[in-house]
Amino acid sequence: MCLEEQRSFPLAQDSHIEVVSEWYDVHPINEQQILEKLEQDDVDTSQLSEDILQNYDQDHFGGVEANDELARLAGLDENCHLLDVCSGMGGPARYQAHNYGCRVTGIDLTESRVAGAIRLTEMVGLSDRVTFQCANALDNHFPDRSFDVVISQEAFCHIPKKSKLVNECVRVLKTGGRMAFTDIVKRDRMTDQARDRLQNEMMFTELETQAGYGRLLEREGCKVMEMQDVSEHWAEILVARLAMYRSLRSQTVAHFGAAHFEKWDNAYDHFVGLVKTGELGGCRFLARRN
Ligand SMILES: C[S@@+](CC[C@H](N)C(=O)[O-])C[C@H]1O[C@@H](n2cnc3c(N)ncnc32)[C@H](O)[C@@H]1O
Repeated sequence: MCLEEQRSFPLAQDSHIEVVSEWYDVHPINEQQILEKLEQDDVDTSQLSEDILQNYDQDHFGGVEANDELARLAGLDENCHLLDVCSGMGGPARYQAHNYGCRVTGIDLTESRVAGAIRLTEMVGLSDRVTFQCANALDNHFPDRSFDVVISQEAFCHIPKKSKLVNECVRVLKTGGRMAFTDIVKRDRMTDQARDRLQNEMMFTELETQAGYGRLLEREGCKVMEMQDVSEHWAEILVARLAMYRSLRSQTVAHFGAAHFEKWDNAYDHFVGLVKTGELGGCRFLARRN
């Protein structure tokens, strides 16, 4: 059950939900790690501002620049109500509200991340415009046509039933509303063995292709405006990200144990290798609901 005060929606019992949630409960990027890193950097967390926090709380590839690119594509401004699907620790939601003036609702199925996102948002004084709820992206419970923009970053890879997922995102968009997102995509050359490892070790429940996402969006009544292949850029980013996770070794071991760190390191190394060889890639999409 999700925390009551978050006015969250009941999550259907589903083994994929539990497995993904448990995996994110022990993810190296978490609320405690963010606060510890801020303290290490001599930031007074009692006076924390979004301008500082935004450099610590993004859990996707490319940091705040990637947020700006989605904002530019989607035309974010102060009139927008934005839904961030799979909002994690709330980094992108707070960033978009702070920098583009929009109102943001974030949903994520991992209760510990929703609770952390709410606390971090209170710390930077953005709770009046940025709220979070515990919900499954496959069944978000919002009324039809209630948002101007839907965004998501590096999360759809964890979600099965892509057709239902895209349907649910488009359903809540107003006519003319935009869906702007990035995701890890599979390429033709990926082997079954690699796919099984990604599923077991990274919780990549189901991967779509770039063209497959294009077809699903068109089928839901959207016009696909942009499909940017960002694979080469992500390959560079991911090498740095692996080094970043390795730099968190002592914190991760202290919180979750040495065996957990080694397991994570092995899995992430395999994932990064597949992006480097081109078996996996990344894509950024912009679609407009007709
Ligand atoms: C890599 S994190 C990305 C977080 C955030 N988008 C960011 O950029 O900082 C992926 C998030 O997806 C969430 N997630 C995975 N499956 C989900 C689902 N079916 N519904 C909602 N959230 C989900 C996880 O709990 C996790 O917080």
